[in-house]
Amino acid sequence: MEMNRREFVVAATVASACVAGGISCEAHAASADPTPNHPVECGSVSDYSRDGAFDAFAKDKRIMLVRKSGRLYATTATCSHRNCVIKSVANDLRCPCHGSRFTLDGTVAKGPAQHALVRYGISAAGGKITVDPTKKFNQDQWHDPQSYVSVA
Ligand code: FES
Repeated sequence: MEMNRREFVVAATVASACVAGGISCEAHAASADPTPNHPVECGSVSDYSRDGAFDAFAKDKRIMLVRKSGRLYATTATCSHRNCVIKSVANDLRCPCHGSRFTLDGTVAKGPAQHALVRYGISAAGGKITVDPTKKFNQDQWHDPQSYVSVA
C-alpha cells in the first residue's frame, strides 16, 4: 500500500521526532493506548497500606494508584506531554521520554509537560478498589468525591 503525500509527511515527522528524542515511537502511538474503556478491579484497600505511588497497573492499563494524605486516587499513567508511560520513582512520578516530573498529586513539577495528570473515577465497595477510566477529573475537579477514596 502506498502512502499519499500527507501520510508520508506525517509519518516522516513522527519518525524523526522519535529518533531525535531517542525514544520508542510505540510510546507515542495513540492507537496503542491500552487504557481500558471500562471499570477495572485494582485489588483491595489493604494493598495500598502506605503513602506513595503504586505502578502495578501502569504499563498494561495506564493507571497509577496513589495514596497520600488519607486519600487513595488513580491518575493516568500516560504523560501529559506526549503520552509515554510514567514511572514511580522515589516520591514522584517521572516520564522517561523527555524528563517531565509530576508530584504524587499529579501536578507538573518539571516540564516539558504542561498539564497535570488526569484522575480517574475510583470507588471501594466491600474493600475492593475499582478504577473507572471513563470518568475523568481534571485538576479543578480533584475535590469531587468520585475522584478519590478516603483511607484512614
Ligand atoms: S512524553 Fe515527553 S516528557 Fe513525557
